[in-house]
Amino acid sequence: MSEILRTHDLRAGYGLIEVLHGVNINVDAGEIVVVLGANGAGKTTMMRAISGMIPRTGVVDFLADDIAHLSAHKVTARGIAHVPQGRGTFPELTVEENLRIGAHSRRDSFAADIDYWYGVFPRLQERRLQRAGSLSGGEQQMLAIARALMSRPKLLLCDEPSLGLAPLVTRELFEVLQRLNSETGLSVLLVEQNANLALEIASRVYLLETGEIVSSGTPDEYMNNDAVRKSYLGH
Ligand SMILES: Nc1ncnc2c1ncn2[C@@H]1O[C@H](COP(=O)(O)OP(=O)(O)O)[C@@H](O)[C@H]1O
Ligand SMILES: [Mg+2]
Repeated sequence: MSEILRTHDLRAGYGLIEVLHGVNINVDAGEIVVVLGANGAGKTTMMRAISGMIPRTGVVDFLADDIAHLSAHKVTARGIAHVPQGRGTFPELTVEENLRIGAHSRRDSFAADIDYWYGVFPRLQERRLQRAGSLSGGEQQMLAIARALMSRPKLLLCDEPSLGLAPLVTRELFEVLQRLNSETGLSVLLVEQNANLALEIASRVYLLETGEIVSSGTPDEYMNNDAVRKSYLGH
């Protein structure tokens, strides 16, 4: 399979404090790669470092080009869309305005894309003139994903989309991600603290602890690992 993303010795932090201590991960085209990590492990920092939102060192190869020196805006234009933790929609704007903003990096016409995503997320169409802030948590997360997809990314970064959602809503959300992945070949890098549902859609898994990748494997290996089950699966 062809490789879409590879980080090498990726380091980042805040001020003088390094949080990410040399992370090496890769995502092949068409994979859903899940990075599990406890609260504070550095998952959000890793996503920000990949998408260029914070200063970082090391290599971020995306489609065989090192993008570690590019601004966040240029990273988006290359084909990486980032759904930040906490949704990242504009609550005062309508659903449709949020979708339009998602296409800001594009110069072509995107009206057909809005209709396409309304087809994938019918509830967004029903609420297209409603303020994003008035949507339910699950709907806001769907909007955040649809908005990110308006840039037509090759790789979607999803930061803890399950946060604050009921398990059933999370399952529905992950099913949408899985469908997008299987129908359009979209590659996904998903970070999650709650492993139960994420493992069901994962192609491969990494474990991040205090800013370092400590292991990797198949979802089955993690589901059957006692230590992982205690820490991340709650049983
Ligand atoms: N904006 C920030 N400024 C300073 N420290 C931060 C900031 N964001 C996160 N941190 C610290 O970086 C570490 C990793 O945080 P984060 O990447 O958010 O972890 P996770 O997403 O896995 O919960 C934590 O110790 C956190 O306190
Ligand atoms: Mg986080």
